[in-house]
Amino acid sequence: MNWVIQENKFCEEQISRMGNRMLCGNGYLGIRGTLEEYRKEQMPAINLAGIYDQVGSGWREPLNAPNVLYTYIVVDGKKYTLPETEPLEHHMELDFRHGIFSRETSWKTDRGIVTVRSEHFACRDEVHRIAMQYQVTADFHAEVELYTGIDGDVWDIHGPHYDTLESAEEQGCSQMQEAAYENQGRSQMQGAAHENQGCIRMRGVTHEKGDTVDALETVTADFPCERHLAAGEKEILRRITFVTEIGRSYYIEKTAVIFTSKDEGWNLQRAHRMLQESKVAGYDALKESHCRKWEEKWAVSEVEIDGDEEAMKALNYSIYHLLSIAPTHASNMSIPARGLSGQTYKGAVFWDTEMFMLDFFLFTDPDVARSLMKYRVDTLDGALEKAAHYGYEGAFYAWESQEGGFDACSDYNVTDVFTGRPQRTYFKDKQYHISAAVVYGIMRYTQVTGDQTLLQEGGLKTVIECANFYYSLLLKKAAGDFYEIRDVIGPDEYHERVNNNAYTNRMAKFVFQSAAKLLKNLESEAAGQEYQVDELIHRFEDAAAHIYLPKPDQDGVIEQFDGYSRLEDASLDEVRSRLLHEKEYWGGAYGVAAETKVIKQADVVTMLNLFSQEYEPEILKKNWEYYEPRTEHGSSLSSCMYAMLACKCNMPQKAYPFFMNSARADLKDGGKEWAGLVYIGGTHPAAAGGAYMTAIEGFGGISVEDGTVRSAAVLPEGWNKMKFHICCRNIRYAVEVGRQGTKITEEGNVHSDAL
Ligand code: BGC
Repeated sequence: MNWVIQENKFCEEQISRMGNRMLCGNGYLGIRGTLEEYRKEQMPAINLAGIYDQVGSGWREPLNAPNVLYTYIVVDGKKYTLPETEPLEHHMELDFRHGIFSRETSWKTDRGIVTVRSEHFACRDEVHRIAMQYQVTADFHAEVELYTGIDGDVWDIHGPHYDTLESAEEQGCSQMQEAAYENQGRSQMQGAAHENQGCIRMRGVTHEKGDTVDALETVTADFPCERHLAAGEKEILRRITFVTEIGRSYYIEKTAVIFTSKDEGWNLQRAHRMLQESKVAGYDALKESHCRKWEEKWAVSEVEIDGDEEAMKALNYSIYHLLSIAPTHASNMSIPARGLSGQTYKGAVFWDTEMFMLDFFLFTDPDVARSLMKYRVDTLDGALEKAAHYGYEGAFYAWESQEGGFDACSDYNVTDVFTGRPQRTYFKDKQYHISAAVVYGIMRYTQVTGDQTLLQEGGLKTVIECANFYYSLLLKKAAGDFYEIRDVIGPDEYHERVNNNAYTNRMAKFVFQSAAKLLKNLESEAAGQEYQVDELIHRFEDAAAHIYLPKPDQDGVIEQFDGYSRLEDASLDEVRSRLLHEKEYWGGAYGVAAETKVIKQADVVTMLNLFSQEYEPEILKKNWEYYEPRTEHGSSLSSCMYAMLACKCNMPQKAYPFFMNSARADLKDGGKEWAGLVYIGGTHPAAAGGAYMTAIEGFGGISVEDGTVRSAAVLPEGWNKMKFHICCRNIRYAVEVGRQGTKITEEGNVHSDAL
């Protein structure tokens, strides 16, 4: 398979999309696929995981580190940068087997052609480190000034987040230079006046909490040159000057280290040490160990599809994105809805993680799966506070969760395109289904891994507090005999404040059932000290038995919420034609979809997908057929749910385009970039996770029951065979799904810290 995606011409309109599409990351940081010379207008970013800041009443969002890759050239006194100077040729690509971004750009100058070639990666084996190589060639004796350093004037949506930016030059690395060259045996360099001074550093101090972000970099150049250093208010740059010999390549190597005051055990000394070691090792060696680490990841994550190269590439590209944002360095960290591609969606964690991404990690790297769920357990206090704030019991998780479980979701999450005014939305207050996603994640983790320690270390308490929350939401009419949940938003955000959303009610039932089951299994003495076990079991069982779940009507259709069937049945095209502005928000009180049956994303279909065994196959199919034409798929989370349910209805051909839509979410043009006037672009890891689930659990039909892996495959046309690995209960399996059946072979134990 070809593991490269490329772009062969420069297109200014595509800058933001390329930034997402060609992202490199290692879970600690994400480097957008942008060019070294870009300034904040072109949205370059080294986006950091788990550290946030708020300025004034702007949205709280994650930090972008000072840009340590900032580099550009001036030739014969003229600056050659994109997008300002039109190139003769431009090519950029991402090797997504190894997370390596590269570009090659040529410009025609008055005297000849000058070419820049570069590549960079976010080190996989040492997540604080970034490495870059930058090369200049000319077909004439060009007088080149190469500027390289750190740009602190970073792209922010609601910034600037650094109140102060201080920069300095430090000598920490220079004494290692001789050793570096000897070690690499680069005899051709001897005698040259190489550019190998100490490192430069920039420290940003954040506005809200005074957190610090340190960015350091060091550069080596293998050619004679002159060097000067200049520090501006927000940048610190070297100027490296030389005159090119015709056809000779002049390259510099840069290593950078980034750490923040939140990173335990990190300080300047350690950063210097890492820079020195990196310099001794040299770029090629760093690249080699980085690639080796990626190969280890692929050895357990790659999915091979015999018969459909395009699907195989899109699927593995999705997996690449999941691997690039996996918090392998942390034990209780989760993944934001837009991964590490920037500040969109406030860098916050949504239900996307548990319901769409978790399975990939469960099957390939259970330690990461544990970290994702431990994040929820450790942010329980935030959820308890949120529930209390709204007058409920138990744990109501943040719709947009940042550190500590703080809910970053604003009461006005959309800006009206006509008035420019913030529009009241109820995502934060009414998307109750978020707590059920947390319980689902904990239960699924426990079921697939068999690891009980998560429950012991707070998971059980989390499940019980979520059950308490749903219990406090229940309403019962005086004469009624069932419980309702009113005034909610289900997954379909276009219909706000509805009653008895089928998905929410069924998930609440799942939470009650899970809590009751866990309580029953408890060693009664230990549990008795903390909980009124019998009373809780009784309460949750009663709630599970009596919560209202809408039944299929005479046509087999399950009503999404009370009164949905009475809404206007306008077609998607008709509703779209009513928009007065292309960026207008479809939902909310006055949105074009609000009074119609058009929904944003899979809702009843998501519920049926999770609980398919409770319904006749005929009902699953009828609902798929009913809701699909009424779904805008306005969220990248939608397609995979339709794909998976189609597989369960034995309709792999119908599933296929939805699967491809998920797998290509970050490859194709045309995804939504705006909600009202709010920028929502970035990568789509939930779609990537959904594509993985569809391949493995949908087409491959893989399920885990009582620790046993089973398969009921429904391969789409053209797929002869699918091969992958999964782990379950500490054992790794090789799976080969073919048209004649599935072979599941035990491969040995999983080397896991958690299990
Ligand atoms: C979707 C949510 C999703 C969020 C983040 C929204 O557009 O409606 O379901 O959690 O995006 O991906």
